[in-house]
Amino acid sequence: MKIITTPSEMQAWSRERLIAGERIACVPTMGYLHEGHLSLVRRARTAADRVVLTLFVNPTQFGPGEDYAIYPRDPGRDRALCEAEGVDVIFMPTAAEMYAPDASTAVVEEALSRRLCGASRPGHFRGVCTVVSKLFNCVRPDVAVFGQKDAQQALVIKRMVRDLNFPIEIIVAPIVREPDGLALSSRNVRLSAEERKSALGLSRALGMAREAFARGERDAATVRRRIEEELAASGLRTDYVEIVDTGTMEPVAQLAPGVLVALAAFAGQTRLIDNCEL
Ligand code: PAF
Repeated sequence: MKIITTPSEMQAWSRERLIAGERIACVPTMGYLHEGHLSLVRRARTAADRVVLTLFVNPTQFGPGEDYAIYPRDPGRDRALCEAEGVDVIFMPTAAEMYAPDASTAVVEEALSRRLCGASRPGHFRGVCTVVSKLFNCVRPDVAVFGQKDAQQALVIKRMVRDLNFPIEIIVAPIVREPDGLALSSRNVRLSAEERKSALGLSRALGMAREAFARGERDAATVRRRIEEELAASGLRTDYVEIVDTGTMEPVAQLAPGVLVALAAFAGQTRLIDNCEL
């Protein structure tokens, strides 16, 4: 497994692979890898000859007062996990390699990123779209794999790829959960035992929404209110509860198959997200 730290070396490696006729898959991550990330790697492996995992905690997608400085990091452990999974390259540039001090260009998606995490984290998707574009230009993949846990991110990236004609297929892989239902996240490591218990309120609330839908409930406002009650009862501070069309991220009044229920809530200081499609 190769470790590459500069965009130019990454581009040179990819150029050689492309000349050799190989397909490259990219798995963009911010590191502190868990089974969810590894499931993306396995999915990537089925879609290409080579897998490049990018490991970069991107400063531009964190707002002031967010957790950039304390985002969990353990490159040594990440490296061992990638090696065991047969990753071909870890691309781990420094922030200085990625962003010139006078960088003045950004990529902004202006429709799908307005609500949900875009509303509660202003500038977040500008940072995501910009860094993912840059990672794509470094890795030059044929295919890239993102997780459904960040459902809005996956949709925004698909739109960006379409709108900017990146010749890249986007695959979205399912959420991986702990046996008790908690969606895997690098941030889970920061939860105290008490917060970890509270965090289960997210998947419980989603389960409740699914059950209500299965029983015939169709009023989105009712389900939304019950989710908020469940989150509060679990000791979580709700950031948002949104019931939206999966294609537009616009709120729906009526539940229907395929509608996305997306939640963000704080367990202590740690912000967690989760979602399900009905
Ligand atoms: O989902 C993430 O980990 C990040 O938002 C991504 C896509 C790696 C961009 O920094």
